[in-house]
Amino acid sequence: MTKTFPKGFLWGGATAANQIEGAYNEGGRGLATSDFARLITDEIRETEGAFDEHVPHNAASAEMVADMKKNPEKWALPKRRGIGFYHTYKEDIALFAEMGFKVFRLSISWSRIFPNGDDDTPNEEGLAFYDKVFDECHKHGIEPMVTLCHFDTPLHLAEKYGGFLSRHTVDAFVHYVETVLKRYKGKVKYWLTFNEINNVLSNPFTSSGLIFDGAPTANTCNPYLGHWQEKFQAVHNQMVASALAVIKCHEIDPEAKMGNMLCRLENYAESTKPEDQLQVLFEDHFNWFFTDVQCKGKYPYYMKRFFDENAITIAMEENDLEVLQQGTVDFITISYYMTYVMRFKGEKVPKPTGRLVSDIKNPNLEMSGWGWPIDPIGFRITLNHIYDRYQLPIFISENGLGAIDQADANGYVEDDYRIDYMKRHIEQMGEAITDGVDIFGYAWWGPIDLISSGTSEMKKRYGMIYVDLDDYGNGTAKRTRKKSFYYYKQVIESNGENLENNS
Ligand code: BG6
Repeated sequence: MTKTFPKGFLWGGATAANQIEGAYNEGGRGLATSDFARLITDEIRETEGAFDEHVPHNAASAEMVADMKKNPEKWALPKRRGIGFYHTYKEDIALFAEMGFKVFRLSISWSRIFPNGDDDTPNEEGLAFYDKVFDECHKHGIEPMVTLCHFDTPLHLAEKYGGFLSRHTVDAFVHYVETVLKRYKGKVKYWLTFNEINNVLSNPFTSSGLIFDGAPTANTCNPYLGHWQEKFQAVHNQMVASALAVIKCHEIDPEAKMGNMLCRLENYAESTKPEDQLQVLFEDHFNWFFTDVQCKGKYPYYMKRFFDENAITIAMEENDLEVLQQGTVDFITISYYMTYVMRFKGEKVPKPTGRLVSDIKNPNLEMSGWGWPIDPIGFRITLNHIYDRYQLPIFISENGLGAIDQADANGYVEDDYRIDYMKRHIEQMGEAITDGVDIFGYAWWGPIDLISSGTSEMKKRYGMIYVDLDDYGNGTAKRTRKKSFYYYKQVIESNGENLENNS
């Protein structure tokens, strides 16, 4: 491989408040949607039906939320305890620094700053917590990259206003953004608005604070498939909120930059049939839609037909289109985990699949233990496609492998499978850079074991740092270095030149 990584390339790792902090009821924090994400046990998989081992918990119904509030002891809700980062941030950041991190992507818990989401004044204890975290990063020469909302809308906004279905939530979000931009001016150079904004299609509760009536349907990957009117309205409001955040960022801290975050779903046609290729085009549109608006500043032409044929009407305020145009992002970020396979559905303009994992297997790819296809070349294709479309600098805000690790008595894990995944993806990212794609950094998802977003399991581990906790919070929470810890250190030290797994 050609030596590709530019000087100053931002190597690091990514996390989210709701998956690491815990302390859900400490420091004046209010409840968030993530506090209502149940653990998916094998029993639930068996009784409710599993799709590729992945039964989402987070499309909660009103009944489920009410019961979780009334009888919390009945439910396992691991995100409430996270991995204790709220108290261990110094130790954890020191370990990231030991690996040589240049960047640490983390998120602010909105309900730590505004417990109800829309309070008049912020909670000083919450603000002070992130001051300490950012100071700690800078002490180690690590640049924080901060997501404003990562699947944790304040519960009050979800219950009372239907989350982002309401413009009240947009106003509350903008107030929150203004508050943190002013407070952390000079401390945070890189901001992201909403994590995986397209996730509203599959996880409307966590992503946008939408709560539907009736129990989720079993035996499907997406218990609330459909509801397109509500989902596209909510996402319109989120895109306006995102644009307003970018405008505020430029006003308040002209030195800072604000990006977006898309879960990029790269699609392959199942066959060479033109119909299958057409299906790829359709499904791609439901993925590009979000970044087309956030990067180009206007609704793309292709959504009109879908909206018309499905009687979807987006309620807009007078200057929404202008705001979208003015608030385009400075850079684009993506999560990349896998690729999808498409087969013609026989519809002129189909609905989005809204799937987390492709239902058609790609026989050419291996899969992770959770049925996620592993496709490093797909990563290079993705990066080229994005750059070709937007010509904006790209940051990889997530890429990683969730696996079951066996730690020895000292907490050491010989995770060559993770090293192999990392090596092959970094190689392809290098190829993309050599292709001419402007990539300025890479954050491994979950540098430290954390609670899974999709299933709330702890045993689905991504980390290079092992955390001695199980799905139910049993264990010492002790942090130990895995083999991949030393590998990533070597990668960063050599700025991506030494990718050999020598030991
Ligand atoms: C992304 C999310 O969807 O994928 C993360 O932004 C999440 O929050 C990651 O953890 C991996 O998914 P999971 O379900 O394996 O945790």
